[in-house]
Amino acid sequence: MKVVAINGSPRKGGNTEIMIRKVFEPLEKAGIETELIQVGGKSIRGCTACRKCGEMQNQTCIQKDDPVNEIAAKVFAADGIILGSPTYFTDVTSEMKAIIDRVGYIAYTGGGLLRHKVGAAVVAVRRGGAIHVFDTMNHFFQISQMFIVGSTYWNMCYGMHKGDVNQDEEGMANMVDIGESMALLLGKLENV
Ligand SMILES: Cc1cc2nc3c(=O)[nH]c(=O)nc-3n(C[C@H](O)[C@H](O)[C@H](O)COP(=O)(O)O)c2cc1C
Repeated sequence: MKVVAINGSPRKGGNTEIMIRKVFEPLEKAGIETELIQVGGKSIRGCTACRKCGEMQNQTCIQKDDPVNEIAAKVFAADGIILGSPTYFTDVTSEMKAIIDRVGYIAYTGGGLLRHKVGAAVVAVRRGGAIHVFDTMNHFFQISQMFIVGSTYWNMCYGMHKGDVNQDEEGMANMVDIGESMALLLGKLENV
């Protein structure tokens, strides 16, 4: 089984990445393969509403000048998906939103390509707005007919500078809990 995580932060090694890697720990312990895909900081266009994905029915977007199709293929092949974003003006980063819109629309027009996969969202935040970020990513899972893994106090960690989230003991414990729950659920679903 495999879980792919999409990091919407442009800061490599930043708080969101630290959180994602903490979720990976119990997954890897359970023998689940993991891969982190960096999208933050890359040049990724938004959806142009051309609806070609629905016409083509080949699990791709007609825009081929950015990494979205490569990412979409990995997401569609995965059993579990982690979306991670820092809070930017109370929402996900632009790159994360572009992935949600484009991969989400390919999946939707393709007849539910993400149905019954397992999803978890994690959010890095300095002070306020994380719940809205969390909701944005969970709405993607929900419209995609996925199973969502939560934890206590809504999958977020506090911090501003790179590494600050390591001081948020409760938040980081939640990241481990998310990984454990995800591993449990994936294990239960494996033979369904
Ligand atoms: C453009 C921008 C907007 C931000 N907006 C918010 C915000 O609305 N609320 C907040 O608490 N922190 C905000 N932050 C702080 C980041 O969410 C915070 O530093 C986070 O830990 C960064 O995670 P990263 O290291 O994974 O990039 C903002 C940072 C930037 C660069």
